[in-house]
Amino acid sequence: MSKAASYDLVLRQLEALLEGETDPIAKMANVAAVLHESFGFWWTGFYRVIGEELILGPFQGPVACMHIPFGRGVCGTAWKRNETVVVPDVEAFPGHIACSSASRSEIVVPVHGADGTVVAVLDIDSDRLGTFDEVDAKALGQIVCLL
Ligand code: SME
Repeated sequence: MSKAASYDLVLRQLEALLEGETDPIAKMANVAAVLHESFGFWWTGFYRVIGEELILGPFQGPVACMHIPFGRGVCGTAWKRNETVVVPDVEAFPGHIACSSASRSEIVVPVHGADGTVVAVLDIDSDRLGTFDEVDAKALGQIVCLL
């Protein structure tokens, strides 16, 4: 099955799972679990915007850093730019925050609140180079709209 087809299935699964749920933490927790299980990522989770920094939210995978300042790392950059950031090789990204030495590539997708501001980011790490591309960016952008 193609990656796009897999994401279509995951999107439909998540639509059904999250239907009627209003608590954002509960929804983030199950989105992280479904994505992590479905694709075998190294780390899958959320950081929430709290004041001037990102704070670790629901995730699956190894322990991670808990606070990320605005504009720092891949997560803080995606927040500052208000756009999805795809990093094929984390060692080539200036300022990358290495929570795990096993992480080789990464994608970070902003999550928007009702007023359009960034309220969180979805961060996914892979232990292989070049895991993420436009297919992931598009599909994950649809998935975070369920939150
Ligand atoms: N690598 C991220 C930090 C979070 S961990 O990957 C879970 C970054 O540079 O923002």
